[in-house]
Amino acid sequence: MIFYFSGTGNTRYCAETLGKMLGDELVDVSVYMRQKKAGHFHSSRPWIFCSPIYIGYLPKIFAKFIRASTFEGDPRFYFIITLGGNEKGGSIAPKLLPGLCRLKGKHYMGAGHITMPRNLILFFNLQDEAEIQQQLQKADSLLAQYGKLIQKEQTLPVFPVNTLEYIMILPILNAYYKHFVRDEKFTVDETCIGCGLCARVCPLGNITMEGRKPRWNGNCTHCTACINRCPKAAIQYGRGTRKRGRYTLEKYRAAMKKS
Ligand SMILES: Cc1cc2nc3c(=O)[nH]c(=O)nc-3n(C[C@H](O)[C@H](O)[C@H](O)COP(=O)(O)O)c2cc1C
Repeated sequence: MIFYFSGTGNTRYCAETLGKMLGDELVDVSVYMRQKKAGHFHSSRPWIFCSPIYIGYLPKIFAKFIRASTFEGDPRFYFIITLGGNEKGGSIAPKLLPGLCRLKGKHYMGAGHITMPRNLILFFNLQDEAEIQQQLQKADSLLAQYGKLIQKEQTLPVFPVNTLEYIMILPILNAYYKHFVRDEKFTVDETCIGCGLCARVCPLGNITMEGRKPRWNGNCTHCTACINRCPKAAIQYGRGTRKRGRYTLEKYRAAMKKS
């Protein structure tokens, strides 16, 4: 069974590709997150968790979902992690995931890291198109490699964690969520057409439409689905996003097919 959490499509793409390769079932964890409930699953095949990296680790809500849910049957956990833009560094997950597996009574089978386009437009500009296309091609070959290893029930290659990054990130992880991962800075500008797509794509169900305008209700994880998927680029975060591009994997793959 392949679980995934995805704001802008990178991780969903990885999960779907592996799903086809392995003939395995997909579970979009946002369905559980929206209902604020854990899941109870049974499978005789290894469990695969596909996740973006947020501040070096799994998004807090995804780790919480894994901790709260039950996974009966196969004793092995695989992880597929999508990074944003960085070829090196960016993840301390391999240091923390074995502990999560122990907590669930499972064997850690490794975390395959895949560099995908960066989606964090709240703070960073988009990469240029040529770089994005190169990353997506490389992602396909890594996915094929990881898929084969999972098929053979072997462990995934070790991703080297930068010790300095680990020492620096670990103590600030919780504080970061408390102080920075907030939604007060989201607004809509005059180009908002009130279509409600932002509310429909929010994986946490944190957005409600009020008088044809979205309202963020304080339970945000900064996945960027709303701001990146808005068809009019009408959603802003503070002042920095007015001139920034928007990213979804679907948009880039469609452009790649045309060219
Ligand atoms: C809140 C947030 C934090 C992020 N932190 C990191 C990070 O620490 N390291 C990194 O390489 N990428 C980071 N990224 C980039 C994403 O992990 C990356 O673009 C990912 O592929 C997005 O997956 P998705 O399209 O499935 O949502 C971050 C993105 C977000 C939205």
